[in-house]
Amino acid sequence: MSKTKLTELLDIEHPIIMAPMFLVSDTGMIIEALKSGITAAFPALNYRTDEEFRSAIDEIRNATDKPFGVNLIVNKSNPKYPQQLITCVDKKVDFIITSLGSPREVIEKSKPVGIKVFCDVTNVQYAKKVAELGADAIIGVGAEAGGHAGNIKIKDLISQLKAEFDIPIISAGGVATKSQIDEMIEAGADGVSVGTVFIAAQECGVSDEYKQALVDYGAKDVVRTSNLSGSPLTVINTPYVQEIGTEPSFLMRMMIKHKKLRKILKMVIAVQGMNKIKKSAFSASYKTYFVAGPSIEHIYKVRPLKEIVEDLV
Ligand SMILES: Cc1cc2nc3c(=O)[nH]c(=O)nc-3n(C[C@H](O)[C@H](O)[C@H](O)COP(=O)(O)O)c2cc1C
Repeated sequence: MSKTKLTELLDIEHPIIMAPMFLVSDTGMIIEALKSGITAAFPALNYRTDEEFRSAIDEIRNATDKPFGVNLIVNKSNPKYPQQLITCVDKKVDFIITSLGSPREVIEKSKPVGIKVFCDVTNVQYAKKVAELGADAIIGVGAEAGGHAGNIKIKDLISQLKAEFDIPIISAGGVATKSQIDEMIEAGADGVSVGTVFIAAQECGVSDEYKQALVDYGAKDVVRTSNLSGSPLTVINTPYVQEIGTEPSFLMRMMIKHKKLRKILKMVIAVQGMNKIKKSAFSASYKTYFVAGPSIEHIYKVRPLKEIVEDLV
């Protein structure tokens, strides 16, 4: 694959980041991805304690000297953020991906020790803010992404970002094939961040049912639900999701309208949602949510991660 600003910035072979995925990205997958010539990041939130988080970083470091990153949720919904940032700085991870909040503090503390900071954005206005704060790269999260998707079509978002900024632009969302990567690079991206297709890697620790659902369902089966976290999340439209719907109940909607109740309710929904996702990822039942983006369209079997990378490049 061609050399880009991203391959130069991180000194990697291919301009691909295996995207951070809550509960999904594990050290085994990260190590395999790094050995395959791409880079990868995992959410710090995947670890309950700081000790576990630190040993995950050590495990990757002991297995390879290739660069990798950590994803930090930088808003108040993440009480572990202050310690997670201290640990990233302590351990000098290669890069941090910030999402859902201002990257100001992360940039201030990371730059002096040489950690690069990449910031998730869903529009140009927010990208301007992170660029002014000193982001090293911008990750444009498009409407096609898995997880908390944006609202602008990825190609449009990339062209808009490219027109405004000189720092590397990375596209996130909807990429599952080499030709799609080529299209993104043509649209102006310096790299791609790919999540969903890696869930179907043999090395990934989620349940076999989750992986099989990625094979069995297609793009048209992916819907956004507001029942799992504070903001809409992409899930496969299984019979269970169809049964309970993708909008909060009437009672819940009424309560959310109440100013004082809103904050508490949103937190309750988020905590309950996290527990549901956790259960779903590792032990499937009828009441299961499978978080994934429309790029499941291109998943036709579960296979070694190395093979997925070979196809992408
Ligand atoms: C199962 C799943 C979990 C995700 N968890 C996170 C997360 O914890 N933090 C984050 O910033 N993005 C998260 N994302 C978004 C990815 O980092 C990335 O932006 C997205 O997967 C790219 O779109 P794609 O799935 O079409 O490749 C998640 C995506 C998926 C599919």
